[in-house]
Amino acid sequence: MWEALVEVPEAALNRGDRVYRRWLRARMQRGDAVAFVAETRGRVPVASGAVFVRDIDPSPSGVATSPHTISMFTEKGCRGQGIARDILHELRDWCEARGFAAVTLSPAPKARRLYRRVGFERAWGMVLRFPPRHPGPHARRRPPRGPREG
Ligand SMILES: CC(C)(COP(=O)(O)OP(=O)(O)OC[C@H]1O[C@@H](n2cnc3c(N)ncnc32)[C@H](O)[C@@H]1OP(=O)(O)O)[C@@H](O)C(=O)NCCC(=O)NCCS
Repeated sequence: MWEALVEVPEAALNRGDRVYRRWLRARMQRGDAVAFVAETRGRVPVASGAVFVRDIDPSPSGVATSPHTISMFTEKGCRGQGIARDILHELRDWCEARGFAAVTLSPAPKARRLYRRVGFERAWGMVLRFPPRHPGPHARRRPPRGPREG
């Protein structure tokens, strides 16, 4: 899926696959995630989609988790047959059955039509992007020098 969305070196893809598999499997075992895979009659996987339940800040409504859709992918030769739409319906049913009132996703631009067709609506969100060379929170950096004493 990542190959279809961004340019990533193969080594990073393989590493990412292992991390992702561990991450999703742990959540599925806890019941905090579900994934659907569509297969051909010969059991070759051709499409996928998943939902994981993430923590959100508690509000007076008492809601502190929210399901988020990830990993929507259909192999090129199988696109346009409604497979992703069917997977999204399954994911929605899973969320509804657990009492959630909505499910979110971050759409790739080319997939927006698919999501709109299934009923997803555009919702407001904002992002503040940092300049490219801004070190991330986990980057090692020297502690800033304080004023000299004495
Ligand atoms: C997006 C993607 C998962 C769609 O899979 P799919 O199985 O072909 O989708 P479906 O056949 O269920 O399409 C359902 C509807 O969405 C439309 N649609 C799907 N992908 C579309 C695209 N790339 N551009 C325009 N419309 C699209 C279909 O035409 C169909 O609409 P219709 O009901 O009016 O015919 C697939 O194109 C893909 O894997 N893309 C690369 C990875 C990606 O972008 N994933 C999404 C990350 S957010």
